[in-house]
Amino acid sequence: MKIGIVGLGYVGLPLAVAFAEAGQEVRGVDLDAAKVEALNAGRSYIEDIPDSALAPLGERLRASSEYADLTACEAVIVCVPTPLTSSREPDLTYLLEAASALAAVLQRGQLIVLESTTYPGTTRERLAPILAESGLIVGSDVFVAFSPERIDPGRTDYTIRTTPKLVGGMTEACTERARELYSLVCDKVVVVSTPEVAELSKLLENVFRSVNIAFVNELAQLCDRLGIDVWEVIDAASTKPFGFMRFEPGPGMGGHCLPVDPFYLAFRAREQDFYPEFIELAGKVNQAQPAFCVERIERVLNQATKPVKGSRILVLGAGYKAGSGDTRESPALTILRLLTALEADVSYHDPFVPDLPEFGLSSVDLDAALASTDLAAIVTAHPGVDYAQVVARAPRTLDFRGITRGIASPTLERL
Ligand SMILES: NC(=O)c1ccc[n+]([C@@H]2O[C@H](COP(=O)([O-])OP(=O)(O)OC[C@H]3O[C@@H](n4cnc5c(N)ncnc54)[C@H](O)[C@@H]3O)[C@@H](O)[C@H]2O)c1
Repeated sequence: MKIGIVGLGYVGLPLAVAFAEAGQEVRGVDLDAAKVEALNAGRSYIEDIPDSALAPLGERLRASSEYADLTACEAVIVCVPTPLTSSREPDLTYLLEAASALAAVLQRGQLIVLESTTYPGTTRERLAPILAESGLIVGSDVFVAFSPERIDPGRTDYTIRTTPKLVGGMTEACTERARELYSLVCDKVVVVSTPEVAELSKLLENVFRSVNIAFVNELAQLCDRLGIDVWEVIDAASTKPFGFMRFEPGPGMGGHCLPVDPFYLAFRAREQDFYPEFIELAGKVNQAQPAFCVERIERVLNQATKPVKGSRILVLGAGYKAGSGDTRESPALTILRLLTALEADVSYHDPFVPDLPEFGLSSVDLDAALASTDLAAIVTAHPGVDYAQVVARAPRTLDFRGITRGIASPTLERL
């Protein structure tokens, strides 16, 4: 098959590689000329895709910024961003622009699948009408479906092939086309009755995580008051083999999905005069977590009769998750922002994030920084960092990830 992928980011590129590795011919379209150039030169910009994975694909994976290159494709998968506006409402600009550009080159018989996470109703009410402007009829001339991406960057135990893939088409024919398409790269394709079911199931998966993370974050705050080790409590509860699922507290939620997706569902709910309490509350608790971390930093410094102002605070980890340089919505950035507002002398170390231009900072050498810091705050516990050494060398360490469990030191505190 010839398959088009629109949007070659964290979702689109691994998918493009998966189809090309399965022997299909893939045409990627991205408006970012730097990405297009990199891919065509065999250079990857996504941690999970090494350059060595691109080399054997050769001409099977080509990229451009031209939608016209998609005309020969039998199927086109859309993986553009779906962020929030500044007022925390769904921003479908990228999706609507991609849809218009696609409509202009749409061919009879093509299957269009949306993978971007969005609220239920987007495929039917926003995407399909734009595609229909081409004059082609959805369900007979062209086929439209939604299939949520379930990728978890950095994860190696579940891959595109081994993670079941949901598909929901606008008509039975649409669903069947989508099922055939994903069967090329997924061992199990699960068919649902409508695009709305597929759209909402993705939001359920992410809101489920958001709510549970908020719950343990709140528990961590309560344990702080009670003087109980939250990590020991979670370890203890996790010994129950049924009826409990482990979630861990942290400095707050980051990335392109968990902090964003619940707002998509809340928006759709409000349109129906429905106010989803769990979703809103989880968002509120998780968004407040970086401020709680800063309060803990203030308390530790206070015990040493040091004000935050002027104190040298080393933030370990700027990416939102271990092993990733993705800083989107990263709680580390909020913590840096709050500390900067308090006039702390902040620096950060992150092997995956060389620079943070918005702070005018570059990742510092860990050894040198530990020798001169007042406090080290472990915000994201990247692999390859010797945390025992951090605790041994920093005068004070605050661990918001529980990575130092097992280390006892009078200079160490944990969330
Ligand atoms: N990153 C994840 O882990 C993840 C997981 C599941 C779902 N998702 C969802 O997948 C979607 C894409 O996320 P991502 O992380 O891959 O985003 P990304 O920003 O990494 O990639 C999106 C790409 O789309 C390109 N683009 C934007 N507008 C375009 C247009 N009109 N035409 C062509 N290309 C365009 C951008 O240049 C960018 O390269 C989002 O809806 C996201 O919520 C992401």
